[in-house]
Amino acid sequence: MLAIGCDHGGFQLKKAIEAYLEERGIEYKDFGCPDETSVDYPPIAAAVAHSIANGECERGILCCGTGIGMSISANKVDGIRAAVCTEPYSTEMTRRHNNCNCLCLGGRVLSPEKALELVRIYLDTPYEGGRHQRRLDMIAQIERGEL
Ligand code: RB5
Repeated sequence: MLAIGCDHGGFQLKKAIEAYLEERGIEYKDFGCPDETSVDYPPIAAAVAHSIANGECERGILCCGTGIGMSISANKVDGIRAAVCTEPYSTEMTRRHNNCNCLCLGGRVLSPEKALELVRIYLDTPYEGGRHQRRLDMIAQIERGEL
């Protein structure tokens, strides 16, 4: 199950991503917002992030104007590794090396076509583990106040 959420700046992009997920038969839970009325992004980022952190959803996608506000907010929740991506290489590497579990995209930055390319990479690229796990464990140490 994928968690998905947006604010008004990412609403159109979220709709395009949901259509893509439906085409691929990927189940998702939509945490809002429901239309292009202006809303604050932090509560939506928090809802998506908590659903990932508590295991209800495996991974998430958040869309706002730039993806940045969503990523800053989502990364406040322990266990979330949110990344703003704007091009394919970083999207692939944030899965392979960072085990990114929350892709953040900007509806005012990316065309729907480019965004869907990044979503495809995010969904289809595995985490490599190995030496990267040591670094992710260190990130978890930061969350526990140990680093
Ligand atoms: C909303 O205008 C905009 O600030 C928001 O969508 C996002 O880009 C914040 O990072």
